[in-house]
Amino acid sequence: MANNSPREHWGSGIGFILAATGSAVGLGNIWKFPYITGENGGGAFVLIYLVCIAVIGIPVMLCEMSLGRHTQKNPIGAFGSISPESSKLSHFFGLCMLLTGMGLLLFHNYGMAVLMFVLGALVFAYSWRVVGFCGVFAGFVILSFYSVVAGWTIAYFGKALSGGLDFVDKVAAEQSFSSLVANPYYSIGCHLGFMFLCVVIVMGGVKKGIERWSKILMSLLFLLLFILILRGLSLPGATQGVAFMLSPDFSAISTNSVLIALGHAFFTLSLGMGAIITYGSYVSKDQNLFLSTLSIVALDTLVAILAGLAIFPAVFAFNMEPSAGPGLVFNTVPLVMTQMPGGIFWAGLFFLLLIIAALTSGISLLEVVVAAAMDELKIKRTPAVIGVGCIIGLLGCLCAVSVSDWTRVEWLHSGLTGLFGVDDASFFDFMDNIASNWLLPLGGISISIFVGWVWGTRKAVEEIRHGSHNFADVHLIALLAGLKDDPSHNSDYHVLTLAALWGIFIRFISPVAVMIAFLYNIGWI
Ligand code: PFF
Repeated sequence: MANNSPREHWGSGIGFILAATGSAVGLGNIWKFPYITGENGGGAFVLIYLVCIAVIGIPVMLCEMSLGRHTQKNPIGAFGSISPESSKLSHFFGLCMLLTGMGLLLFHNYGMAVLMFVLGALVFAYSWRVVGFCGVFAGFVILSFYSVVAGWTIAYFGKALSGGLDFVDKVAAEQSFSSLVANPYYSIGCHLGFMFLCVVIVMGGVKKGIERWSKILMSLLFLLLFILILRGLSLPGATQGVAFMLSPDFSAISTNSVLIALGHAFFTLSLGMGAIITYGSYVSKDQNLFLSTLSIVALDTLVAILAGLAIFPAVFAFNMEPSAGPGLVFNTVPLVMTQMPGGIFWAGLFFLLLIIAALTSGISLLEVVVAAAMDELKIKRTPAVIGVGCIIGLLGCLCAVSVSDWTRVEWLHSGLTGLFGVDDASFFDFMDNIASNWLLPLGGISISIFVGWVWGTRKAVEEIRHGSHNFADVHLIALLAGLKDDPSHNSDYHVLTLAALWGIFIRFISPVAVMIAFLYNIGWI
């Protein structure tokens, strides 16, 4: 069973870009972005989100990509192969974790305190490898609830096909969604169906599975989105929806909105957990990492904005609330769409779009864990995919059951209530909280500090230079002025190059910004 085969690689540069864009474009873009935009002032929120993408998203994605390609390893192996035997910085972080654990004990937050003690001890023992381990663990956690939501989109697609989305009013739409969620067998069936699709694709390998399917699915996704936008924009009153997305209302913005935008930037770009490290480890040396990062980020942002443009015009044309919360997609959208001529067809297309978006993200989450199992446990792809798929499938069942009724899994409920004080939050909310508020921000900070201070920006830039021609060393001002190829602007002076700008961001700006968001998220500031 030992896995001694050479590392697989993407068949083409565009294949890699589409696969990574597929990872980034997911439920976060089409389900979450429109409703958080609706709740936080429309255009003003979009503007803040764009700043977060530029300040945090681009620099951290470049860190993950260069780390992956340089080491050609999964997140655990990537940190392990670069990390020094003993790192003062990691000891310092280990100590901080132990102290945080003690602080949490004083606040009677026993579960988080135990987690901090374990993490702190692991950091002392395994140094930076722990960051990779946490990334893989986040993959487990996120996929187990992500696939439950993805399962609901499959259920809604089925309902659209069978004419079951023909709601007369808002109450009927809400009832339909609550009865789906309350039926654990149906939720579990759809979740397992989604996991099965992910398992089949990932089992095909990097080139023949993930890359091939990403190319097909992403082309279909762009086509569907385009059709849905044209449909949305052709409705009467649609201009109001477009204006809502594009004209900023700064009075609806609060500190919280800024932090929501920052957290979402992480989730939507699949950062902070090693997905991009894993995909980057299959990239060849002649790929331009700078341009790849910019393309992935631009496509992801474009899809989020297009999804808003597909949804809000229809919402306004039918006098619905743009700030309808997480139910926007499952309650409002079917209601709006089925009121339009040919509505069931449009609703079907919309849920198909959601399934495709979720699938390309689901396979990347699964691949993070599979790649780690293959490399670290030295097993072949097929048993790794089946084993990991089964474990995540089981965890997802717990999520689905806990959403329908906590008391069905009372042992888990009382255990988590005792340790973490989760009270009425479902296991689903608990997993989401652990991943989104703890693992991803901590992972993001650790990755940028590791690349900026431990591996070092100099070595990272050497990696980025492969395949990037002189992109990294171009004088930024010369680039903006269109003088990129003018030799006098690219001399040996210490000028502000793209590489220098990136270094400043990952050493100082990104970690500090994420740290503030993290502390705010957990309620410490
Ligand atoms: N980026 C995905 C989305 O926006 O839905 C979610 C995600 C996928 C997060 C893969 C993390 C990841 F590794």
